[in-house]
Amino acid sequence: MRHPGAAVHRHEHHLVSLSDIAVLFFKAAFNFIRQFIYLDTLMSKPKILVARAVFPEIIERLSQHFEVESNQADVLWSKAELIAHLQGKQGVFTTGGERIDAELLAACPDLKICANMAVGYNNFDIDAMTAAGVLGTNAPDVLTETTADFGFALMMATARRMTESEHYLRAGKWTKWSFDMFAGSDIHGSTLGILGMGRIGQGIAKRGAHGFGMKVIYHNRSRLDATLEADCKARYVSKEELLKTADHVVLVLPYSAASHHTIGASELALMKPTATLVNIARGGIVDDAALAQALKNKVIAAAGLDVFEGEPKVHPDLLDVPNVVLTPHIASSTMPTRLAMASLAAANLVAFLGGQPALTPLNPAALERK
Ligand code: GLV
Repeated sequence: MRHPGAAVHRHEHHLVSLSDIAVLFFKAAFNFIRQFIYLDTLMSKPKILVARAVFPEIIERLSQHFEVESNQADVLWSKAELIAHLQGKQGVFTTGGERIDAELLAACPDLKICANMAVGYNNFDIDAMTAAGVLGTNAPDVLTETTADFGFALMMATARRMTESEHYLRAGKWTKWSFDMFAGSDIHGSTLGILGMGRIGQGIAKRGAHGFGMKVIYHNRSRLDATLEADCKARYVSKEELLKTADHVVLVLPYSAASHHTIGASELALMKPTATLVNIARGGIVDDAALAQALKNKVIAAAGLDVFEGEPKVHPDLLDVPNVVLTPHIASSTMPTRLAMASLAAANLVAFLGGQPALTPLNPAALERK
């Protein structure tokens, strides 16, 4: 005889089995989808932005590691546009012109690293980046010798009035020789004053001391050690003594609030009327309006400028004075050096976003924040 509960029992047993299978099935499906999403996250490349046009081979190299949005059309983005392009990006390749500040950082929460293709990094608000846990890197060393070459060349062009005389020639004004035609001042044997004695300053000092027999004096936030001073044959002096005694003053100091208008009307007044001034550092270190006035009034003989306050705009008074050599921020611009700078910025992104230490970090304290 069939037990009255037997069918029920079998039925219950059957029901349990079905629900077990359903649970197992859903669990398996869930795990499969979860694994797939996890793998996809693991396998998807981090997103980065290259904010200005750079060498195509650099974009190619970056694309092996990242999902790259690049600006090969070289559009000059507003801050809002830069923020929009940075959405979802963990890294950005900058070129020195893109301002990275607290406002931008707050609007770009995914950002982890900003790699500058420049040794100077006054476009970075380093304190804000550290507070936001965003690492900054720059591109030192690879440009030192090229930039020192240019600083020296600009000093020579300024002292020997090269562009001023070329403009005269091109204008068809050269009709006869004259004894004092574009007489300039000597480089060899003269006194070279360097304000800012980092790697590039030292490169210029060595060129002057060893190549041209110049007497080198320098001023810096901190004095170099004796070995470096001996290598550069350089003597440490106060800023005032440097300005008063140098025949050629070259500025190679980093820009910051503290170095803003390091050279203004009163510093120019300390210089010899025969002296020249060269700025390859940053716009804003020289008060350009005061310099134009000093050049016009022959307070100093001549100036050579590769950088300008508010560049690429140039103070109109500077364009009006003849005794100034003007170049558009090209001191590091040779193809091998610019490629080396871009490669270093790219290498910083690849290393850091690949879980390795960055090569040239500026604010390692940022790493403790994120
Ligand atoms: C150029 O100005 C640089 O800072 O590299």
